[in-house]
Amino acid sequence: MTAVAEFYGDNAALYDRVATLPPVGRWRARAVAALDLDPGDTVVEMGCGTGANLPYLRRAVGPGGRVVGLDLTRPLLERARGRITREGWVNVHVVQGDATEAPVETADALLATFVVGLLADPADAVADWCDLVAGAAEGGRLALVDATASDHPAGRLLNPAFRAFVAAGAPSSSPADVARALVPGSGLAAPLSERVRASRRALTARARDRRYERMGLGFVGVLSGRVGGV
Ligand SMILES: C[S@@+](CC[C@H](N)C(=O)[O-])C[C@H]1O[C@@H](n2cnc3c(N)ncnc32)[C@H](O)[C@@H]1O
Repeated sequence: MTAVAEFYGDNAALYDRVATLPPVGRWRARAVAALDLDPGDTVVEMGCGTGANLPYLRRAVGPGGRVVGLDLTRPLLERARGRITREGWVNVHVVQGDATEAPVETADALLATFVVGLLADPADAVADWCDLVAGAAEGGRLALVDATASDHPAGRLLNPAFRAFVAAGAPSSSPADVARALVPGSGLAAPLSERVRASRRALTARARDRRYERMGLGFVGVLSGRVGGV
């Protein structure tokens, strides 16, 4: 088991509570809107976790569409499966697998929320995800949602708390790391930010009709675009 899967597996219940908070739900709704899904579409979610995006994706594709979620971490997927069973969705499926070697050939759209910061080579993963949606009839849309430090006037004041939150959510961090992250310049959120930037550059290089939206006092960004189909 990888350190990422072990960390999220151990914290599945807590993660699900945070992931389904109402303000986070509003970010999810906007991210799904950025995919411009039509009823009947097939959408893949990389790193679907406990399935917090599934209700929004299922609503957008309707009963005639298909939603497939992929994640490394079994305890999170069990929660996602519980959600699917409770809702009685027959066209929503989650599978255990690595989003950097996805066993999926094509889709109309792809979503990854708070995932690329955990990948060793996010640019490479995003390039593969672009290939995956490029074969859709009019090109496919891809949306990346990630948190970085804020440059919003009110958000800037909360950047130390953001760094501590990132450190607390890093699979290998200790309580001392979380305390250190409160100090400006500690650099503990830097790897996450660099991976998010690399993923956004990779999507920007391939996608047209791009949109970028910041939410949550400037901490959360949604970058979306269409690949292929010209
Ligand atoms: C911060 S959580 C986000 C979960 C979900 N996308 C959400 O918004 O609630 C990161 C997720 O990425 C998954 N993950 C990390 N690396 C992965 C990989 N290489 N392949 C598949 N899933 C991965 C973790 O298991 C975890 O569920």
